[in-house]
Amino acid sequence: MWNVIKKLIVGLVVGGVLVGLTRMFEFPVIFQMMFFAYAMLGSAVFILLDAPALKPMGGLKSVIVLVAFYIVLCTAFISGASMWPQYDPQDEMGKIDKILKPKRLLTDQGKADELIARAKALDEQVKALTVRLKALGGDQATKDPAAGGSGASPATTSTATGDFMKMGEEQWQLQECYNCHKLKGEGGKKRGPELDNIGTYLSVDEIKQKILDPKSFMAEGFEKEWEKGKMPDKYKDLMEENDVVALASWLGTFKNTAVPTPKPIKKK
Ligand code: HEC
Repeated sequence: MWNVIKKLIVGLVVGGVLVGLTRMFEFPVIFQMMFFAYAMLGSAVFILLDAPALKPMGGLKSVIVLVAFYIVLCTAFISGASMWPQYDPQDEMGKIDKILKPKRLLTDQGKADELIARAKALDEQVKALTVRLKALGGDQATKDPAAGGSGASPATTSTATGDFMKMGEEQWQLQECYNCHKLKGEGGKKRGPELDNIGTYLSVDEIKQKILDPKSFMAEGFEKEWEKGKMPDKYKDLMEENDVVALASWLGTFKNTAVPTPKPIKKK
């Protein structure tokens, strides 16, 4: 029993050290958890080694036991692994769907769907207006004239801007810019510059240009990376105009002068 506790403690210590190390290297949390889980798995195996030996067996019985053991292991492994969020197919499908959606809209079926959706939305509006007209006609409802027409437009505009910014942030995640760029203290900065102050240097149009053609600007101090073309030249194929503008507009709002974003130098 003491042996089991000892091995458990060693597992916990090793796990703790691994988590500390992975944190130091800025691994994503999920990987930190994974390293910890592997340490625990390791101590479980060592504990199992202490278990009393089975009675020797042979023939058919040993085959059955072996197969049963194999099935148990497979089930445990697969069901265990599928609990990790990164193996959730829904997650990946959602991402792919987002990338494909604008492309799908370009096909005829997509266009038809889009038109139907729009028609439905218009229908809803007509219904809402009908209800309002009825209310106006029925009991001279003049209490709230501002609620109709122009009164609602400022609110609509501001949510539209908010949605647009959200779209930009979504593109940041979707195109995985964070793999190379740190922003708001998150993401890998090992290959590319931190972008928290990019809005001070570049206009939305210039950021757009940089995304569509990474050779157009060079971050000061990143001469080698720029020359080697470290920043991928693929976004012009992957992204719709709208997505690029949204992403560039969103990045343009980052003007945190406390972060040493390198100065972009115009190259084209
Ligand atoms: C594979 C790594 C990588 C990915 C992915 C990547 N970049 Fe870059 N990016 C770089 C490197 C390296 C530089 C610095 C060299 C240069 O200017 O080309 C850079 C520079 C930049 C700059 C100029 C920064 C400055 O201070 O001058 C901007 C803006 C930028 N990237 C935006 C993006 C956006 C937006 C995305 C996602 C659509 C993205 N990057 C994806 C590697 C990457």
